Amino acid sequence: MGLALELAGIPLANPVMLASGTCGYGQELAGVMAVETLGAIVTKAITASPRFGNPTPRLAETPAGMLNAIGLANVGVEAFIADKLPYLRDLAPRVIVNIAGSRIEEYVAVAERLETATGIDAYELNISCPNVAHGGIAFGADPAAIAAVVGAVKRVITRPLIVKMSPNVTDIVSTSRAAEDAGADALALINTLIGMAVDVSRRRPVLANLTGGLSGPAIRPVGLAMVYKVFTAVRIPIIGLGGIMETEDALAYLMCGARAVQIGTATFINPDAAVRIITGLAAWCDDQGVDDLQDIVGACHL
Ligand SMILES: Cc1cc2nc3c(=O)[nH]c(=O)nc-3n(C[C@H](O)[C@H](O)[C@H](O)COP(=O)(O)O)c2cc1C
Repeated sequence: MGLALELAGIPLANPVMLASGTCGYGQELAGVMAVETLGAIVTKAITASPRFGNPTPRLAETPAGMLNAIGLANVGVEAFIADKLPYLRDLAPRVIVNIAGSRIEEYVAVAERLETATGIDAYELNISCPNVAHGGIAFGADPAAIAAVVGAVKRVITRPLIVKMSPNVTDIVSTSRAAEDAGADALALINTLIGMAVDVSRRRPVLANLTGGLSGPAIRPVGLAMVYKVFTAVRIPIIGLGGIMETEDALAYLMCGARAVQIGTATFINPDAAVRIITGLAAWCDDQGVDDLQDIVGACHL
């Protein structure tokens, strides 16, 4: 159908993936969507030890989006390998494991442990986490910290490394270039934007964590602009995400320069959203006489 591609050495049946944190470890969606039709599944962030996450409330609905402050709740790398990976390994979609940490050593330890497991196709580095060794400023906001964490992880892995960029920066081009120069094989743009909601009747923030990450259609224009900008600044492939709800949104990301896309918040509204987008992309190619969807990557650059 012209949807297949190879991205940073990862063969994908189509360019549609489920975004980290919005599909658990895959099994959660079995039975409510045709998981086998996906190009890839990106797991919830995995840390060295299990994490319960932030206190509740940690989700809030906003106009055209939602805020989350889950706080990287996950089973930890050992339980992931023992209990979650066996299910994912047998599925048709490629398996991309999202890695998080609060120190470089934690990222490296998780990556080293995952290297010993079979059934993983690539890693996605979540660099939006606060760097506790350096005053809590997120790794992803500082080109030097990005270079350090990407370089350190790259040295201990053999599988492709996708670096997931934070949009909470002044210059997305310099942070993206820092990731590429340090050895990233691909970039995923964008993670959530920092936001807040206030319960006026209680005179309090809605989220126990005070702020959270904004996702959904509200952030799509930001994601598109960042993919558009970064496309001409790096040589490695880009995976676009942020507010993709419909086929047209995925096409817009491809035209800005993304080779593949991830679907996040849309799955919470309609668990079938990613499957509908895969079908929609195939129908669009047929309708437009496009033999290979990759031919439209970057098409809207003047
Ligand atoms: C509830 C929730 C949990 C998330 N957890 C993670 C995570 O663990 N690691 C990560 O890199 N991104 C995480 N994200 C960010 C998403 O993967 C994605 O970058 C973001 O939601 C933008 O895409 P969307 O608008 O399609 O949801 C999370 C998002 C949501 C809504």
